[in-house]
Amino acid sequence: MITKQKGCYDIYGTEAKKWNYVSRLIDSVCENYNYSFIRTPIFESSELFHRGVGETTDIVTKETYDFKDRGDRDITLRPEGTAGVVRSYIENKMYGDPDQPKKLYYNGTMYRYERPQSGRDRELTQFGVEVLGSDDPMIDAEVISLAVNIYRLVGLKQIKVNINSLGDTESRDNYRKALVDYFKPHIKDMCEDCQVRLEKNPLRILDCKVDADTDVMKNAPKITDYLNKESKERFEKVQKYLDLLDIEYVVDPGVVRGLDYYDHTVFEIEAKVEGFGSQNVLGAGGRYNGLVKQLDGPEIPGIGFAMGLGRLMLAIEKEGIELPIDESIDAYVMYVSDTEKDYATTLVQELRMNGFKVDTEYTGRGLKAQFKQADRLNSKFLIILNDEDLKDNRIQVKNNKTKEEEKVELDYLMYYLEENMESSYDECDCGCGCGDHCDCDDDCDCGCQDGEECKCGGHCHCHEEGEE
Ligand code: HAM
Repeated sequence: MITKQKGCYDIYGTEAKKWNYVSRLIDSVCENYNYSFIRTPIFESSELFHRGVGETTDIVTKETYDFKDRGDRDITLRPEGTAGVVRSYIENKMYGDPDQPKKLYYNGTMYRYERPQSGRDRELTQFGVEVLGSDDPMIDAEVISLAVNIYRLVGLKQIKVNINSLGDTESRDNYRKALVDYFKPHIKDMCEDCQVRLEKNPLRILDCKVDADTDVMKNAPKITDYLNKESKERFEKVQKYLDLLDIEYVVDPGVVRGLDYYDHTVFEIEAKVEGFGSQNVLGAGGRYNGLVKQLDGPEIPGIGFAMGLGRLMLAIEKEGIELPIDESIDAYVMYVSDTEKDYATTLVQELRMNGFKVDTEYTGRGLKAQFKQADRLNSKFLIILNDEDLKDNRIQVKNNKTKEEEKVELDYLMYYLEENMESSYDECDCGCGCGDHCDCDDDCDCGCQDGEECKCGGHCHCHEEGEE
């Protein structure tokens, strides 16, 4: 048997519905913030990531999937989305549009050759945004608020936003010098990677996973002490806008992020729910004012972030959030004879064309087994075809919730389904605001007893009016 590769996943069934729900929610949030979707290739020239993400980053030195194509070109599967979006921005001269800044978002697979563990995959799906063409601290706060609002809207409560500033070039140069002076006397006791980093890119020492818990690392100089006046003021403005947007955050000088393109604002959003595991950064990002120029474009500032959808789904599960996914269909068309089957073929098509979610029998089951299949599919209505009824231009329809059965005129079927759909819904229409799905024959799922005060603070009318 051929099995999937390590660190990759098949997502199907209810899980796939949850992913689609979250992706649609992301689309609608991005639409509200007026971000446009961008789709860039999954593979790009290796040079893009070497120059964009950074030669000395863990991603480029250890984690990329590199290969030569049949034309002997050096190709890399994208490990992240920013470099490709910036390449596209430059190549398509989007900076020439009068409509600036360009606010873009993407949602796609990325590839990193990492040691797989919970929340760390080799094929990962990232949703991300990139804003190009504005250096206003207000947009830094907008990008953070967009991320936070997505987490809020899916229902996550246990998250923490950590922000920091890496300052401008002058601040980072001073900080780099301070790091070299500080680490030099200790470097022989540190890992081999750190020894190389000291020469090439001392800031990356702070990403080291091997020496992370040593005193040397913990007592290292903090960037916040090296920010010049302009960088400090800029960072204060970002915080002012976050306060205005009512976003809770913590300033954490330890947030440096493992990619080379960042300057000024950097941030990460952590999952705080118990049992999440060590890969608890749900999403992260920052400003990259030098990247467009570095990739041969004009001097244009940018900021963005990305979140791993796998980690987001894990946080949803750990916080016990029930996503409102629809696991039902409107109608299941049942038949036995060949003539009934022919009729089913066209009826199913007609119902679907009219917007109903409909299925039928494809495996030769008998009528009894078809009833079971309709239950498995949570069908609201059963449409039971019968040659005798069809001769009379009628059709037998059973409401699977109320168990009422009726013979309905063929011409009237669509109206009948539409009019009666309400009574077969499982959702609570009591207006109690519990957000749960309420089984109207039973007590409300929110925990209240029918007729009692709902624990959610509202009043539940699970049965018909007057019976509360
Ligand atoms: P990153 O911090 O490398 O940033 O990744 C962003 C998010 O992608 C992480 O917080 C995590 O949720 C998810 N992620 C990363 N690696 C994995 C993995 N191996 N398995 C599962 N999830 C993972 C970037 O990628 C930047 N491009 C973000 C950005 C956009 N900065 C500015 N614009």
